[in-house]
Amino acid sequence: MSLDAVLARIDTDLDRSVERLMTLLRIPSISTDPAHAADCREAAEWLAGELEDLGFDAAVRPTPGRPMVVAHGAGDGPHVLFYGHYDVQPVDPLDLWDTPPFEPELQEVDGVKVIRARGASDDKGQLMTFIEAVRAWKAETGAVPARITIFLEGEEESGSPSLIPFLEENAQELTADIALICDTGLFADRVPAITTRLRGLLGEEITITGPRIDLHSGHYGGMAMNPNRVMTKILGGLHDENGRVQVPGFYDDVEEPSEELLADWASLDFSVEEFLGSVGLKDLAGEKGRTPLELNWSRPTAEINGISGGYAGAGFKTVLPSKCTSKVSFRLVANQDPLKLRESFRAWVTAQVPADCKVEFHPHGAGPASSFDTGHPAFAATREALSDEWGQEAVYIGAGGSIPVAGYFKSILGMDSVLAGFAKDSDAIHSPNEKYDLESYHKGIRSWARVLGKLG
Ligand code: BES
Ligand code: ZN
Repeated sequence: MSLDAVLARIDTDLDRSVERLMTLLRIPSISTDPAHAADCREAAEWLAGELEDLGFDAAVRPTPGRPMVVAHGAGDGPHVLFYGHYDVQPVDPLDLWDTPPFEPELQEVDGVKVIRARGASDDKGQLMTFIEAVRAWKAETGAVPARITIFLEGEEESGSPSLIPFLEENAQELTADIALICDTGLFADRVPAITTRLRGLLGEEITITGPRIDLHSGHYGGMAMNPNRVMTKILGGLHDENGRVQVPGFYDDVEEPSEELLADWASLDFSVEEFLGSVGLKDLAGEKGRTPLELNWSRPTAEINGISGGYAGAGFKTVLPSKCTSKVSFRLVANQDPLKLRESFRAWVTAQVPADCKVEFHPHGAGPASSFDTGHPAFAATREALSDEWGQEAVYIGAGGSIPVAGYFKSILGMDSVLAGFAKDSDAIHSPNEKYDLESYHKGIRSWARVLGKLG
């Protein structure tokens, strides 16, 4: 049977698959940093070249930001659109990396083989699982059992600013029977999973300016207002002692999941001790009275992602800064409107700024939460394929993170998405020393090969 031959080929070709991933990992395609724009282009071109070699009609397509890669393949069967993103997060703090982030290494840690590099898991390793599965089908049988379009984004990690116009302008070309998205993880690092809910995201940057220049904190201190003091007071009031976000109206539109869904989640074997313990914590920090999975999958949050103001370098400097800046993000759940929240957050902050200071806001990404109806037959096919590969029943889960494209595939293209991925909680995505287990890569490739077999 051809699937067995395809799977066997994946096994024997694994070393070369790893080499190809390493080549992609060496390109520092950080989308948020303009200094890496040329690297993003190089990653896009490398991917388009690989897809051309696989017989796709592939092109690097410009946008006002980082380019997209779109590739069309010939093939019979259902039309599937595969999505992944080739951009990665910044690497800082660089000094916390044990090996340089863009010099990928295959390492063995406690007997487990891992591919270590920025983007190894999020999302270069994951997107390559699909491309390598296609490669194996082509090499073994000369064809792929589905008609495939591949769509790779280069701005996912920076809020996808070019995505909506690109989807609108190329709607016909990109609309398929179903989208497959590989940018999520296994459940509890072991259980194969399809993610059916993602949280939305709103990002805001706040700058509070006090005195015209930095001041001597003794000479002026006591008379002049300090913007760091204003900022920390406001941010300190973002949550109450029960973990509830204090922006007025924040919870007004939040939808509770159905009893049935909550029961489903309750049946999953999740250990919060393990999840938090692995990062050196033990206590739940969110709203009181909610289960850990609820907190992550169906409750909104506010997080302070960064604060800067004054002197934080080596040694000490008695300064009263002119400015304080902070970056705050909100994870949103079903029914919350990001733009409405942006307005209420800005009004809430502004009302707390004293007359002697000025506040400015700079918007970052804004996207609503999304959830997927699992009725399309591709869900059952993917579930079976994942269960076969991983030797245990695949589960439907939620995710705390955001993948803006999934919502837009639905709202702009009218297309459902099956989100399946092989990342582990231990991968340290967005953190120093990101890795992807060789097991995730290998079984990930085999999983997509099986999914393609089932779809065809
Ligand atoms: N792959 C992640 C999203 C993710 C993380 C899904 C964990 C499931 C589990 C994705 O690349 C990501 O990090 N997205 C950003 C989007 C944002 C910048 C708009 C995020 O969630 O912060
Ligand atoms: Zn990602």
